[in-house]
Amino acid sequence: MLEILILAAGKGTRMRSDLPKVLHRLAGKPLLGHVVDTAHALGAARTCVVYGFGGEAVPQALADDTLTYVLQAEQHGTGHAVKQALPQLAENGVTLVLYGDVPLTHVSTLQPLVVAAQSGKLGLLTVNLTQPDGYGRIVRESGRVTRIVEHKDATPAERAIQEVNTGILAVATRQLKRWIADLKNDNAQGEYYLTDIIAMAVRDRVDVETHHPGYEWEVLGVNSKAQLAQLERIHQNEIAQALLEAGVTLMDPARLDVRGTLVCGRDVVIDVNCVFEGHVQLDDNVQVGANCVLRNVTVAAGTRIDAFTLIDDAAIGEANRLGPFSRIRPGTTLARDVHVGNFVEIKNSQIDDGSKINHLSYVGDTTMGKKVNIGAGTITCNYDGANKHRTVIEDEVFVGSDTQLVAPVTVGRGATLGAGTTLTKDAPAGELTLSRAKQLTIAGWNRPVKQKKEG
Ligand code: UD1
Ligand code: MG
Repeated sequence: MLEILILAAGKGTRMRSDLPKVLHRLAGKPLLGHVVDTAHALGAARTCVVYGFGGEAVPQALADDTLTYVLQAEQHGTGHAVKQALPQLAENGVTLVLYGDVPLTHVSTLQPLVVAAQSGKLGLLTVNLTQPDGYGRIVRESGRVTRIVEHKDATPAERAIQEVNTGILAVATRQLKRWIADLKNDNAQGEYYLTDIIAMAVRDRVDVETHHPGYEWEVLGVNSKAQLAQLERIHQNEIAQALLEAGVTLMDPARLDVRGTLVCGRDVVIDVNCVFEGHVQLDDNVQVGANCVLRNVTVAAGTRIDAFTLIDDAAIGEANRLGPFSRIRPGTTLARDVHVGNFVEIKNSQIDDGSKINHLSYVGDTTMGKKVNIGAGTITCNYDGANKHRTVIEDEVFVGSDTQLVAPVTVGRGATLGAGTTLTKDAPAGELTLSRAKQLTIAGWNRPVKQKKEG
């Protein structure tokens, strides 16, 4: 049985923030959330998070009943942190130790450590760094690991060692419990070092088996905003490469941000500077123009979204044309072959097949039928200052430009509204309804002339 401990009690002083470090976001998700996902992917029977700095903010932000939270009220080192969680861990399993501020470790990098622990060894993840300053060094004798020495406790010769401890290790829980109970804090930092268990393992003839990550960045922690930004770029590049591999055309993989999941069909094309948040699905042949933001959206096959379009919590149907500069707000569904053009805002509305709202309009709380044409500058007045009301526009209605529909109101099938109409009562099907005054011409009328000032 695998149980996973995530250490997340540290303050993260260098983030210069009131938010606990592990709650800072990478790709839209708290750092700790990435590590929790990794723990789930590894199939942990229990995942235990040791928290401290920031108090209840951490368990509140990631409330998840699959997690066990353990408070480390004062931080006396990584060994002390592990000790707080030990009572939660089953005697007969193995424990993998991860860190809430190391978000990008691949599952495939961690699996061999778990396998080592399951076969009675101690699995330790190490990495060779050209600049190992600050890290614990892996001390070997005749090639075998004998102990870890922390940078602050190391001799100059030890500081020359380039193989460093990532902190990530896996071992039988029974042994971990025994060794942690024996830790002392007689070192440069006066802390209980988890790393001291390596020498104990060697003493007890437990093999220490080291593994390396596929990429160095898999073991990088976040200590500052600069490091957070650096890992964000690395992670975004990974996402972009996976999309390219899946056949998506990215006009520039360096100018794409996915903060959530982006699922694409075949022959999807995404232009530069698009942001995808939450869960976004783009079906076959969807094209997304430059500078679009899509959040929790599904887009059906063959739809083209032009530049600077923002879509939030909506379902977009097949073969639509949206944008440039359209805004689709929550609760909107667009059926087939719908056109939404520039400076059009649609909120909480259902638009049926073949309808067109091409210019400068607000459509809110509206049910629109098929093949409706909405003229430029049309506004549904859905709000009376206190309550929202619905507008119903039936099939094949033609709405002239600069029309206001004061909800609740219904426009019957095939009706036409003349330009400039302010519709306050239902418009009957098949008829022309208009509300403007009759046009008249005053013959011989003269414009006023500017009076000349005296002197
Ligand atoms: C630790 C390792 C070092 C390794 C390095 C890798 C020890 C003694 N040293 O050093 O060998 O090279 O990580 O980054 O383990 N934490 C707690 N409670 C505590 C102390 C720490 O939860 O009381 C958490 C922190 O939030 C952090 C992690 O443990 O996520 C590591 O702590 P940190 O103090 O940064 O360890 P290092 O000194 O860098
Ligand atoms: Mg420290």
